[in-house]
Amino acid sequence: MKRHGLLIVDDEKEILRSLTLTFADDYAVFTASSGAEALEILEKQEIALVIADQRMPVMTGAELLERVFQINSNIIRIILTGYTDTASLIQAINKGHIYQYITKPWERQDLRITVKRAVESYELALENKRLLRELQAANERLKDENIFLRSEVRKEWQCVDIIGQSPVMQKVFSLVNRVLDNSATVLLTGETGTGKTLLACYIHHHGPRRDKLFIEQNCGTLPEMLLESELFGHKRGAFTGAIQDRKGLFEVADGGTLLLDEICEMSPVLQVKLLQVLQEGRFRRVGENEFRQTDVRIIAATNKDLQTEVQNGRFRADLFYRVNVFPIHIPPLRERVSDIRLLAEYCLNKYRRKLNNQVTGFSEDALRSLCDYDYPGNVRELENLIERALILSAGPQIEAGEWLPMLTMHPGSMTRLERLERAEIERLLECHQGNLTRIARELGISRTTLWRRLNDYRIQPDKDPGVSK
Ligand SMILES: Nc1ncnc2c1ncn2[C@@H]1O[C@H](COP(=O)(O)OP(=O)(O)OP(=O)(O)O)[C@@H](O)[C@H]1O
Ligand SMILES: [Mg+2]
Repeated sequence: MKRHGLLIVDDEKEILRSLTLTFADDYAVFTASSGAEALEILEKQEIALVIADQRMPVMTGAELLERVFQINSNIIRIILTGYTDTASLIQAINKGHIYQYITKPWERQDLRITVKRAVESYELALENKRLLRELQAANERLKDENIFLRSEVRKEWQCVDIIGQSPVMQKVFSLVNRVLDNSATVLLTGETGTGKTLLACYIHHHGPRRDKLFIEQNCGTLPEMLLESELFGHKRGAFTGAIQDRKGLFEVADGGTLLLDEICEMSPVLQVKLLQVLQEGRFRRVGENEFRQTDVRIIAATNKDLQTEVQNGRFRADLFYRVNVFPIHIPPLRERVSDIRLLAEYCLNKYRRKLNNQVTGFSEDALRSLCDYDYPGNVRELENLIERALILSAGPQIEAGEWLPMLTMHPGSMTRLERLERAEIERLLECHQGNLTRIARELGISRTTLWRRLNDYRIQPDKDPGVSK
């Protein structure tokens, strides 16, 4: 077994000789008669433990051990001292620069045991570090695997249809067809759930880049630093936790397509970097000076109005022009009611297979109420609604009403509810002489919500003693 290096530092020759004798059998012993000499040895030899005398000219033992701590905090540091109470020693111990102090004269056997224990804890610390490194490396490998899996899952989407016969969707498709064969940057806008990710995937898998990766990155879910490293990669040691060089998505997706979702959530610094990739096709890993080239098609997506973000100073105008080369807006589902039936049938088939369900279709009533609803969550909401209805339905058809409970929220079908609510608010207004705070409390809603209701129902409270102005 490899013997650990033990460095003994003392300006008294006698002590060096005696300690060497004590440890020579078990350790590779090195000796130094001054701090400076000790530091030289530390540079060349692998040392596990340093025993230093406190009282030495020029550099005291405590000062030396502080330097050792800075060079490699794993090395065990033991001080020998005739003094037990000098301020510098106490300070050094408190700062954690010293593992143990031994007062002179010492018992040879005690010292042996102390050193043996110390070296064991040195080994443990090394082992811990090694395990931590392995864990972090495994973590990095998992991340890479995750990217790969993400793109593999997306591949399944290539055979997924995009449903839409409404004129507005036909317009979307004709725009999409124009960008399939080239690498123009595309900006997809539309409310959540309208199909931006689906469309981006379609674009990738129907163009010349289909054999390379399609990767989606949401810009709103990671803090700036992590997003930067995710997109551009990093050099080992660029920040805590960067234990090895790592490729970013711009390198991984080289030749392929990168979907940057929620693009307006990017920080100003990252916006500049993205602009550089878009303009010059080059970027730098975090912590690196040289530029790398990449050829990635960018599809940006947002459910916000980018132009407004520019006006409000949250999004760089130059980046906006660069991203807005080919904008495609996907209208909300409520503006393409004629697609709802098709989508509903499509989802029914999709989930019937998944759930192994026997339901064959919708009742006319159910379809009508599906078409009446306004879908703030768009196609995603419609999908969820149908999956849920399928689970709840006793078959053979999905019926309106009880199977589609969320649809009772539709304004048309709420008239009765509204009437009841309005009547109740009016009753309470009278009962509490217009005290809105008390009415809100009794209804279990906030004052703001109550105000909104009053507005909706065009009720004007006479007075509101609940507010003191
Ligand atoms: N035209 C469509 N035909 C078939 N399925 C669709 C269509 N549009 C959307 N979907 C489906 O609806 C769900 C939501 O779509 P997607 O995730 O693409 O929306 P998104 O606009 O990216 O939403 P978000 O803004 O939340 O990211 C997906 O399961 C998708 O397959
Ligand atoms: Mg999306």
